[in-house]
Parts: sequence; structure tokens; C-alpha cells
Amino acid sequence: MTIQWFPGHMAKARREVTEQLKLVDVVFELVDARIPYSSRNPMIDEVIKDKPRVVLLNKMDMADLNKTRQWMHYFEDKGFYPVLIDSKNGKNLSQVTKAAEIVTKEKFDRMRAKGLRPRAIRAMIVGIPNVGKSTLINRLAKKSIAKTGNMPGVTKKQQWIKVGTSLELLDTPGILWPKFEDQFVGKKLSLTGAIKDSIVHLDEVAIYGIEFLQQHDLQTLNKHYNINVEADTPYVEVFDAIGKSRGMKLRGNEIDYESVVELIIRDIRNEKIGKYTFDSLDLLEEKDEE
Ligand code: G4P
Repeated sequence: MTIQWFPGHMAKARREVTEQLKLVDVVFELVDARIPYSSRNPMIDEVIKDKPRVVLLNKMDMADLNKTRQWMHYFEDKGFYPVLIDSKNGKNLSQVTKAAEIVTKEKFDRMRAKGLRPRAIRAMIVGIPNVGKSTLINRLAKKSIAKTGNMPGVTKKQQWIKVGTSLELLDTPGILWPKFEDQFVGKKLSLTGAIKDSIVHLDEVAIYGIEFLQQHDLQTLNKHYNINVEADTPYVEVFDAIGKSRGMKLRGNEIDYESVVELIIRDIRNEKIGKYTFDSLDLLEEKDEE
């Protein structure tokens, strides 16, 4: 589902998350492990401030594990507690509770020292659309919690879900907007299915995807489509080769580029070619230096 974010929407979403934050001891910031930078809300640090935070890198089953490890270090260095999870298949979820216990330990030790009665840790999930918030809530709840339209501003009575004995989770996640300002971010969000088709030009998304594969996994690209291109073959020629190989032609024997574009995006989104992490830490370092 595509959400059109307008300034009013964004302000409202931020207000709602800020209100929910008052109820919890810890925030689970959910990101897509394939794009741990591009799938973060641009104002997340301002919104969450110094509330204890666990960064959950979701969809680990679809990401490049070597690069994911580098991203884990990145978040550790920033002082957030990262955990790698796969909500769809329920992998590593016990780590989520453990991480919540670790980052709230100081607060709960203080409460105990004051003689307050022990209680469960209260948590909420925050993230941009389609990073897997509902999937994770349902997994942790071990049942299906109705998704309140994937829209900020759709209010319903919030409830606490018990996760084991030590954790309670708000059943409504905080939905914040993605980064719009950077064209590469938009393409990566589209390539991973975080934003749906209408916002970014699909041909540009497919070009980005093909050039990424030419640079990072040329052999697999060639094998997958049964083609033989080089790392520096212009994208039109790569599209031609894929179209020919897959018989995607229009009347008059012209290549059906629209179908080729759709095929490439679908194959990358559904990890048919391989597991990739599109955000690179090098790019981030360059950004920091600017
Ligand atoms: P949201 O609440 O943050 O908007 O996201 P949601 O849970 O709806 O998840 C968005 C898509 O991501 C869903 O796929 C969901 O199955 C998938 N997903 C969530 N977590 C994981 C994960 O850890 N690994 C993988 N591989 N996929 C995950 P969908 O295609 O929209 O729906 P469906 O195919 O599940 O029906």
C-alpha cells in the first residue's frame, strides 16, 4: 500500500509517536536489513531522543550477511543495541526480549532500588511502512493482531500484548515516513518493495538494480538471465540481452522494455537472483564528510 505523505500527515505521525513514547521504556526501531540506512525515518533520532533503543534489522533472510555484520557494528558504535531478525519466519526473536532487558537494565535497577514493585518492560515498535512491523507484532503476540490500515492517524484503542513474562508490547506500531530527499534512497526503497510503484520511475529503479548487479554480482546476473554482459555494458544493452533471452518482444521483434523492467524489479524484490544489501557504509562515510 502506498502512503502519500504530506506535511500535515508527517506532523501528525510524529505527534502520535511522541505520545506513545511516553508509555514505554524502550523503542524497537525496525529497519530493513537490506537497506539499514535508507529504511530509517530521517528524523528518528529527534523523535526518539534518549529513550533506550533497540535497532531491529528485519528481513535478515533477504540481506547479504557480510554487509549486515558491518551494519551491526555501525549501530553498536552509535550506542543502539542492534538485533538481526527475520519476522516472517520467526528467527532470532528471543533476542528481541533479551535486548530490551539489557537496554532497560539501569532503569529497572533504579526502580528496584527504590523499592518499586517489579513489572514487565513496556515497548513499542517504530518504523517506516512495509519494514515488517505488523508481521513482527503478530509473531511476538503469537496470534494475528488486526492491522489498522497502514496509515498514520488511524486511531484505535491501544492495547498491550504480553510477550513472555518480561515484556509488554503496544499493539499499534508507530509509523513514520521514509527519506524522500535522496534519489538513490527512493530507488532502493522501491527495489526492496518499501514504496510501491507510483512514486519512483520504475525504469530508473530497474537501471539502478541492474547496475548494482553488474558491479556486485556480475556472474550471478549473467547466469540468472542466461546472458553474457560485462560490468561496464550499458544498461540498454543489458535490457536487450535479458529481453532476448526471455523472449520478451513486441510485434515487429522489438524488445518489450516494460516487461523487462518489471521482471528485473520483481526478481530483485523477491530475492530470485540473490541476497543483497544495497546500502553501503562507504557511501555513508562520504556523506558524513560532506
Ligand atoms: P509494516 O507493518 O511495517 O507495514 O509491514 P508488514 O508487516 O505488512 O510487512 C511488509 C511485507 O514484508 C510483507 O510482505 C511481509 O510478509 C514481509 N516481511 C516482514 N518481515 C519479513 C522478514 O523478516 N522476511 C521477509 N522475507 N519478509 C518479511 P508482503 O509481500 O506485503 O505480504 P505477504 O507476502 O507476507 O502476504
